[in-house]
Amino acid sequence: MSAPRPILLDCDPGHDDAIAIMLAIADPSIDLRAVTTVAGNVTVENTTRNALRVLDMVERPDIPVAAGRDGPRVRTLSTAAVMHGDSGLEGPLPSEPTRAALDIPAIELIEQQLLDADEPLTLVATGPLTNMADVVERLPHLRSRIRELVLMGGAVDLGNWTPAAEFNIWVDPHAADVVFKAARAPGEGSAADAIAVTMIGLEVTHRAWLTDEHADALRSTGRAGHFVAELLDHFVGFHQRRFGWEGAPIHDAVTIAHLIDGTLVSTLPMNVQIETESPLCLGRTVADRWAVTGLAANAAVGIDIDRDHFVTLLMERLSVLP
Ligand code: BDR
Ligand code: CA
Repeated sequence: MSAPRPILLDCDPGHDDAIAIMLAIADPSIDLRAVTTVAGNVTVENTTRNALRVLDMVERPDIPVAAGRDGPRVRTLSTAAVMHGDSGLEGPLPSEPTRAALDIPAIELIEQQLLDADEPLTLVATGPLTNMADVVERLPHLRSRIRELVLMGGAVDLGNWTPAAEFNIWVDPHAADVVFKAARAPGEGSAADAIAVTMIGLEVTHRAWLTDEHADALRSTGRAGHFVAELLDHFVGFHQRRFGWEGAPIHDAVTIAHLIDGTLVSTLPMNVQIETESPLCLGRTVADRWAVTGLAANAAVGIDIDRDHFVTLLMERLSVLP
């Protein structure tokens, strides 16, 4: 077996972010080196507290955590507390983390990790791209230290937060614009300093759902499984009430699952541009699915997932956590 892949996860936990962290810890092919947080689902104070709580839960006090941006570049922060609760992790009983985040901003922790890693680091972003835009602008000299960026965000077709836009991109479209302008499709393009980007959007993640039955199956597998079950009780219930769906999409965990098994998500190279002006379509990921613009592809865009395989992988890994 090859050495585990070093990754840094930038997130806004959030139920599905929390499950993404746990999957990264549980899978032996992933080496989660650090977690950075951003404002999105809730304030950055709460997303940071939640990241620390989840790392407590899986007994990984050694993984450094640093808080990042407390709001988008241009817009005012809009959260998804209606979905994730005011704390960001509605469901399990609230608890305080056993440690504080590092006393440095996320961008400094990312810089340190890029410099210290013995091989290029994979960045995973599961919240608004505010910190990632900082990486693009403030760490251009470290681009060769970034193996790739895998992000949950956007959609080729329908949005979820507005008819046109997915939540993570809609919260900070100006940051997303910076990131996609610095991007190239993995394996394509000649721009040596561009970052290889994989965009896993709603076409994929809306198929990656768990139900009450999965919650019940995890409830007795241990402390972490019980915690995930309580997260799902809330998250599945919300999606049942709001959308009439049987289950809840575990959007953010798909990024990690894709790194664990590259056959899970089907992608196509596309040119993706971000709408930053139109009030109606703000945050839309304008993805050129049929290559009508003639513009070079700047991302591998997810279009489908083997859902059964995803669910099996996720359930197996979550069941073996402490
Ligand atoms: C994204 O929005 C957030 O609420 C989730 O955590 C996920 O990252 C899905 O649109
Ligand atoms: Ca998220």
